[in-house]
Amino acid sequence: MVLVAPSLLSANAADLGNEVKLLEKAHADLLHFDVMDGHFVPNMTYGPLILRSLKNLTQLPFDVHLMVNNPENFIPWFIDAGADILTFHLEATNNPNLLIEQIQGSGLKAGVSLRPGTDINKLKKLNKNPDLVLVMGVEPGFGGQPFREDTPSRIIKTKSIFANSEVLIEVDGGINPNTARQCIEAGADILVAGTAIFKNRKYGNNIRMIRGG
Ligand code: DX5
Ligand code: ZN
Repeated sequence: MVLVAPSLLSANAADLGNEVKLLEKAHADLLHFDVMDGHFVPNMTYGPLILRSLKNLTQLPFDVHLMVNNPENFIPWFIDAGADILTFHLEATNNPNLLIEQIQGSGLKAGVSLRPGTDINKLKKLNKNPDLVLVMGVEPGFGGQPFREDTPSRIIKTKSIFANSEVLIEVDGGINPNTARQCIEAGADILVAGTAIFKNRKYGNNIRMIRGG
């Protein structure tokens, strides 16, 4: 069964504590935090303080998506703030293998992500397997964008690069019940969704629809 990670980028930012509790009740599997620095992407969101303030409100794992330049500068902060999965962008660092080691060495799961325009074969330069690859269905930076048609083929390509390994495929951006089905058929293990979950207050129903239930 595919896991669903609501992206808090689309949640009510003025009431995140309550939103987190509602998502747990709605059977979300993880919470996806989109950390943006205004440089790697033309948007800015939140830092470790928000994670730390939410951590003791829920048992759900914190799935942190770093859309930042020089992620090496931020990783210790988010490890300390309670991240469970820490994903950085391959385009943002020259030392992906080192970062994977650092994250896994701290007991977290390491994720690697690629902008939609980056060749999936770039993943072959990794000599350490991440725990997951975050395949972007949209250009990173904003929620509510249309799903890119080439996403399922990028999922399939990613799966073939890490065939016979435990590497999970997480898909992020433009996920709704229809695109979720395409991603699941292509081999996705985890789906991130913002707009499709927060479009109304029926979080449980919206999550079920994405899971395919
Ligand atoms: C975009 C973020 C995504 C986004 C998903 O940069 O990484 O997590 O919030 O939002 P929707 O589901 O609305 O595309
Ligand atoms: Zn994200």
